[in-house]
Amino acid sequence: MTKTLGLIGTGMIGGTLARLAVAAGLNVVLSNSRGPETLADLVTELGGQARAATPAAAAEAGDLVVATVPLHAYEQLPAAALAGKIVIDTMNYYPERDGRIAELDSDELTSSALVQRHLAGSRLVKAFNNIDFHRLSTSARPAGAADRSALPIAGDDPAAKAEVIALLDALGYDAVDTGSLADSWRVEPGTPVYVQPYFPGQTPEGVGQDEAFRWFFETPGVPVPAAQVKELIDSAVRGVAGGKLLPGA
Ligand SMILES: NC(=O)c1ccc[n+]([C@@H]2O[C@H](COP(=O)([O-])OP(=O)(O)OC[C@H]3O[C@@H](n4cnc5c(N)ncnc54)[C@H](OP(=O)(O)O)[C@@H]3O)[C@@H](O)[C@H]2O)c1
Repeated sequence: MTKTLGLIGTGMIGGTLARLAVAAGLNVVLSNSRGPETLADLVTELGGQARAATPAAAAEAGDLVVATVPLHAYEQLPAAALAGKIVIDTMNYYPERDGRIAELDSDELTSSALVQRHLAGSRLVKAFNNIDFHRLSTSARPAGAADRSALPIAGDDPAAKAEVIALLDALGYDAVDTGSLADSWRVEPGTPVYVQPYFPGQTPEGVGQDEAFRWFFETPGVPVPAAQVKELIDSAVRGVAGGKLLPGA
């Protein structure tokens, strides 16, 4: 059972996972690129279960470690410190942000297979990549709740996947096994299970940024149960890799 969650990246997704983990009784060790002192406010907010460290120290401290940085930084993930660890990969490929990555554009590799290649000594599991950070927070529910959602996971190591499924359960989600890292294109940007089912609708047209932010934060998520997640995954058709950033994102 995971007692300490290490986080490499403490932005929108990392910060949300840290809050969910602390609420579930876990300890968290946060890290980012700018140094532990820049995470002081969040550590204070989270209280005694949280501390901040360097990425390598967060990796070493975690029973399970989340890698949640922009994909362009994947080669900076501390492979030596992550060796032997289960690593959760939340990352998505957005060429406008990450630059073009030939092996992804050619569909030779999924983005998670690329990250696994860098973290050759780790057991990688893709999870939390297909829901926006705000719905990730607001749609979490206790086990058995009628309106609990499921999230897909993918990985090559069954025991690592079982640990990640247990973590999802503790944080408020059921899990649907998508298969291997090679299969994980089925949950990448642009696929049917990506973001939209959990947060349907579109930014109202012609509104300013404040109004668009309000809409984003005030629109409730929609529960997506496991059977629906499975249908969406099964209906995926492989297309061009990489997502398109929404205006203003
Ligand atoms: N936002 C979403 O709703 C969402 C949903 C699903 C998946 N994702 C994916 O999850 C990943 C993280 O997304 P995000 O939205 O949370 O990003 P974000 O808000 O931009 O946060 C990125 C975090 O990564 C840290 N970071 C960047 N380079 C680093 C490095 N070399 N070493 C250590 N930490 C580093 C940043 O630290 P500094 O601030 O100190 O640079 C920051 O804490 C992305 O791949 C994204 O595509 C995002």
